[in-house]
Amino acid sequence: MISKCLFPAAGYGTRFLPATKAMPKEMMPILDEPLIQYGVEEALASGMDHIAIVTGRNKRAIEDHFDINFELEHQINGTAKEDKLKSIRNLIKKCTFSYTRQMEMKGLGHAILTGETLIGAEPFGVILADDLCVGEPEPVMSQMVRLFDQQPACIIAIEEVPMSEVHKYGVIDAEDLGNGVYKVNDMVEKPSIEDAPGNLAIIGRYILLPEIFDVLRSTELGKSGELQITDALNTLAKQGKVLALKFNGKRFDCGSVSGFVDATNYFFEKLKNN
Ligand code: G1P
Repeated sequence: MISKCLFPAAGYGTRFLPATKAMPKEMMPILDEPLIQYGVEEALASGMDHIAIVTGRNKRAIEDHFDINFELEHQINGTAKEDKLKSIRNLIKKCTFSYTRQMEMKGLGHAILTGETLIGAEPFGVILADDLCVGEPEPVMSQMVRLFDQQPACIIAIEEVPMSEVHKYGVIDAEDLGNGVYKVNDMVEKPSIEDAPGNLAIIGRYILLPEIFDVLRSTELGKSGELQITDALNTLAKQGKVLALKFNGKRFDCGSVSGFVDATNYFFEKLKNN
C-alpha cells in the first residue's frame, strides 16, 4: 500500500508571470478549483491520503487552502454557498497534510530530496500539480499504483510528444513490454532532438522507491546546473528498477498558457454537459 504522495510546489512558475508574482502557480484555478486541489484529489482517489507538500517562500496560500477558514465557515454556514466548500472539506477530512520548505531552487531532484523528511523509508507517489491529468477511466496515479502492485519498481508516467517538443521533457529509451508498460533502459533530461532517444516523454507522475533518496544524494548536478530526478532515476534504470507506463487519459501542461486554456475549456465543456 502506498499511502504518501509528495507534491513539489516550491517553483517560481516563471512561465506564468506576472500572474505568479505573488500567488503560487499551484493555486491558479481551472474553473473554480486550484490546480493543486486536482492533484490532491487524484492522490486520494489512488489510495494516498498522506499529502506531503514541499513549499517555498510566497507559498503560504497552499497551506491556507488545505486548512479550515473559521471566519468563512461561520459566514456561509447554513447558506446555499456551503455547497461550494464541499470538495475541499472532503479532502481536509480524509487527508493529512504535512509541509516542508525548499529554501533554494535547485531542481526537481532537490525538491524531492527535501521531501524525504516527510516521506521516510517507504514507496511514495509524486505529483507535479501543473501537469493536470484526467485518467480514463481511472486516475493516472491509480493506474500506476496498479502496476506497482504487480511489479514493485520505480514507475514513471509517459506519453508520446512531437520530436519538436522533446527538449521540454525527460525522455526515455525503453523496451516495450506490452499493455502500455515499458522497461526503461536510459533517460535523458530535456535533450535536443539529435540527442533524444525517442519521443516518449516523462509526465509529472512518479512512484518512487525510498532508495531514490540515497541515489539523489550521490547524483551530480545535471541540466541547468540542477539536481535532476531524471538523472537519479537513470541510475536505477541501469539496475533494471524503472518501469514506464503509457497511461490511459489526457494530460494538460498547465504550466503553459496554452495548456492552461485547453484544460479550462475541457473542464468547462465537461461541466456544461453534466
Ligand atoms: C520536470 C522533469 C521532466 C519532466 C517534466 C514533466 O520538468 O524534470 O523530466 O518531463 O517535469 O512535466 P519541468 O517541467 O519541471 O521543467
